[in-house]
Parts: sequence; structure tokens; C-alpha cells
Amino acid sequence: MTQDDLIDIEIKLLMEGIFQVYGYDFREYSEASLRRRLTQWLSGSGFATLSLAQSHLLRDRELFDTLLRGITINVSEMFRDPAFFKAVREQVVPHLKTYPFVKIWHAGCASGEEAYSMAILLLEEGLKGRFRIYATDINEEVIRKAQEGIYPLHEMQHFTKNYQQAGGTGSFSDYYTARYDHAILNSKLRENIVFAAHNLAVDADFGEMNLILCRNVMIYFKQPLKERVLGLFDSSLVPGGFLCLGTKESLDHRRISDRYEEIKPRTQIYRKRYAKR
Ligand SMILES: C[S@@+](CC[C@H](N)C(=O)[O-])C[C@H]1O[C@@H](n2cnc3c(N)ncnc32)[C@H](O)[C@@H]1O
Repeated sequence: MTQDDLIDIEIKLLMEGIFQVYGYDFREYSEASLRRRLTQWLSGSGFATLSLAQSHLLRDRELFDTLLRGITINVSEMFRDPAFFKAVREQVVPHLKTYPFVKIWHAGCASGEEAYSMAILLLEEGLKGRFRIYATDINEEVIRKAQEGIYPLHEMQHFTKNYQQAGGTGSFSDYYTARYDHAILNSKLRENIVFAAHNLAVDADFGEMNLILCRNVMIYFKQPLKERVLGLFDSSLVPGGFLCLGTKESLDHRRISDRYEEIKPRTQIYRKRYAKR
């Protein structure tokens, strides 16, 4: 048995323990990604092996939280992949405008940048008072951060560039106030967003969504978990609703794929058909 085989066994045992103790289910996350994250966590933890860390992790919530931070990659940015947001503005929003009220779910929203970007886009497109965004993540710590809507000031230059490339019609600096080295987003952006903890691996669906975004989340999941999550989205989306995935993700060869049509090749924006085939 190689060292890597042993590490994989330790990971399996630890993930089972974490599920039993804390209810977080990482048992269906891709092995390669877990191995990378856990090895990184271990090197800064003071423990020689995962087996030695295990009894502490299962008894010490604070220690477990440091591991949780290591496993869930919470990197995000405003108007990430500007071409994607431009496509949403030009090809999805005209359909959303035909509804009196639209409901949007950002699954795996990390620290909220994507949800705030959507709020800005919809306000600029004249949907004020006609939408609600549900932004969820497994990690409660990042949800608290998302609720605050405060980001490092030095990121604003990059976010402004993204906003402009995404077809922003105003001035990005109107959406935040600079204070010391932080940018505080306008509280009016938060009015239409509900932030909540939700675990895609174990929790239930959300009803009657017109648009669901789950970008750069399922890349860490194994196939059965991907199928489960896509099933959740399928039962949460109204016919004619839109499902948006990350640039490295697609619905190809998925169980639900024949009920969806990509609005344009390589946009990763799929529309749910009205009638089942
Ligand atoms: C790389 S971030 C993507 C953030 C944002 N969607 C974007 O594309 O910029 C991935 C997020 O997925 C969340 N995540 C991982 N597993 C999850 C699960 N089972 N349920 C809900 N969120 C999960 C992580 O906590 C993390 O915040």
C-alpha cells in the first residue's frame, strides 16, 4: 500500500466522522480536490497525519472550522467572467422582464460578490422591486461576510473593470463607499437579497425559481453528487427558467440534460424546456 493509498483511507474515515458529528457531507467530493485541500491544511496544523488530527477535529468545533475553511474554496469576485454577466444581461434579462416578479437562487455564493453583481445588473435593467435573490452557501462564516457586503478596497479596481466589461451602464463607484482600506457596498443592494446557509449535499430544494446560478461549485463534486445537485436545481426551476454553470462546467451527459437547451454555445446558460420530451 502506498502513502497516497493510506492518505485516501484516512480522508474517507475522517469525512465519515465529520458527517456523523457535524452533518457536513464531503463524502462525495472529488478525491483529488480533497487530498490537495487536506494536505495543505495538515501542513499548517501541527499534526503529522490526518489520523492523529481526527480525534481532535471530531471534538473541537473551532479546529473543525479551520478545516472547513480549507475544504470549501470561497474565492469569488464581482462580475466574475464578465462575458457571462453580459450574456445574462442581453439574453436572460429580457425574458425575466416578462414576469411580474422573479426569484433567483445563487447556490454556493461564497462571500456574496456574485449575488451583489446580480442585484446591480437587475437594478440597472429596471427591475427594482421586482426580484428577490436567495444566496446560499454551506459555509456559515462566508455567509456572515456576504451579509456585511464589505470588501477590500484594493479589489475595487479589478471589480470595476469586470463591471465595465460586463456591460455596466452606470459608474461602479456609485455602488460603494470607501472607508479606510475597505469598500462598503450600498445597503440598498442588500434589500432584495436573502443570505442563508444551505448544503447542496443534504438540504432540500427551493421552489419556483426563475434563474439559478451555481458557478464553480460542482467542480469539487463527484458524479453522483453532481447528479443530485442538478436534480435539486431541476425541481426548483420553473419551466422556461434558466440554469447557469461555471465556465468549466456543462450539462453534457447529465440525467437532466435533455430537458435543457444551452441558449448559445459555450455560455453555460441553459434554459429549461416548457414541455418534457
Ligand atoms: C469557488 S466558490 C464559488 C463562488 C461563486 N459562485 C463564484 O463563482 O464566484 C465555491 C463555493 O461553494 C461552496 N460550497 C462547497 N460545497 C458546498 C455545498 N455542499 N453546498 C453549498 N455550497 C457549497 C463553498 O463554500 C464556496 O463558497
